[in-house]
Amino acid sequence: MTYNAADSQQAVRDLAREFGKKEIAPIAKELDRKPPEFPTDLFRKMGKAGFMAFPMKKQYGGLGKPKIDYATLIEELAWFDASAAVIMAVSGLAAYPIDAFGGEEQKRKYLPKMISGEWIGAFALTEPNAGSDAANQKTTAKVEGDWFVINGEKIFITSGNVADVIVLIAKVQDGEERDKVSAIIVETKTPGFTSEALKWKMGIRASTTARLKFENVRVPKANLLGEAGKGFKMSLKTLDSARIGIAAQSVGIAQRVFDDSINYAKTREQFGAPIAKLQAIQWRIADMSTRLEAARLLTYRAALMEDKGESFSREAAQAKLFASEAASFCVDRAMQIHGGYGYIGEFSEIERFYRDQRITEIYEGTSEIQRLVIASNYLR
Ligand code: CAA
Repeated sequence: MTYNAADSQQAVRDLAREFGKKEIAPIAKELDRKPPEFPTDLFRKMGKAGFMAFPMKKQYGGLGKPKIDYATLIEELAWFDASAAVIMAVSGLAAYPIDAFGGEEQKRKYLPKMISGEWIGAFALTEPNAGSDAANQKTTAKVEGDWFVINGEKIFITSGNVADVIVLIAKVQDGEERDKVSAIIVETKTPGFTSEALKWKMGIRASTTARLKFENVRVPKANLLGEAGKGFKMSLKTLDSARIGIAAQSVGIAQRVFDDSINYAKTREQFGAPIAKLQAIQWRIADMSTRLEAARLLTYRAALMEDKGESFSREAAQAKLFASEAASFCVDRAMQIHGGYGYIGEFSEIERFYRDQRITEIYEGTSEIQRLVIASNYLR
């Protein structure tokens, strides 16, 4: 039994579980072991199933579903594979600023294709020297007539090597004294754009993470999202919403290793009885389940607040912080319960989820950044 905070959630769980059993479970282990390669087939199937359409408005091909449903979808996909959840959610991370800040023409041009899965999206904020300090952007977009000429480098960009369209954060230089951090839509077929997948990633290996280079990339000025100079605030707003997705991904990971631990503890016999009879195991199960449920509640609270149109920046940061750390606790305890059968991938999925979980405390703002965001809400 999984707690639902809204009536619609059970139907989403059923849909995602059916999809996950058929399309993700049979390939997840194999995708994890291959060198970095974006699972295009799986992505297109998720598009066809309407997953990327969940949070988007109906007039652009979306389903207009509430965030609580979208969070539930991410949670359930992550139960099967954290990578599948993130490639789906990151397409939404790119579509969100177009939907929230774009003009009508931009929305009509990009959203339907991104929502259907025909086009892959990426959100390019991080640079080699602008990680947690996201405002320290060096990529420039120099205005030349009706064009931006873009130069710079981005790193750690999820799906950046396969993306068709990127929402790029860069400093617009328009001849005024101050550069203006802005969001610009870039189509990756544009000359001067190159990308490469980063190698030897610890986890979420079925999702690719890329280095992007922009060398005199010419993009029409019409591709500016909203106003020049508002790009940093747009990024923070986009991340507020996306962090609920990472919280949901963490809940999915925690639930998976918890479920596997229960099954294992009931069937693994030592000292003449299932290890579930041992108090040391029971305490671990109790602690895992308590953190898992608390993480789930924080995640749903943030999602419901976003749905109600309330301010949810602190709550999203709290959900992401707590859920990612709860998932860390759960993968660690699950590994201990499974012992050698957890450590070696031939026997179980625990080592994959153990590696996959680690990124949830790093991307879309580290745990330290979440703490800053939370504290700043009280100390302003
Ligand atoms: N929404 C909108 N505006 C906001 C905001 C929010 N949530 N938070 C702050 N702002 C505004 C502030 O009001 C302020 O505006 P004014 O200048 O008009 O006063 C402005 O933004 C700057 O705010 P701060 O002074 O608080 O900004 P800061 O520079 O001190 O700190 C930070 C900001 C929270 C540390 C921010 O840099 C941050 O979140 N860093 C982490 C970046 C991050 O999460 N990166 C993840 C990369 S994306 C990724 O991982 C995706 C992927 O591929 C999976």
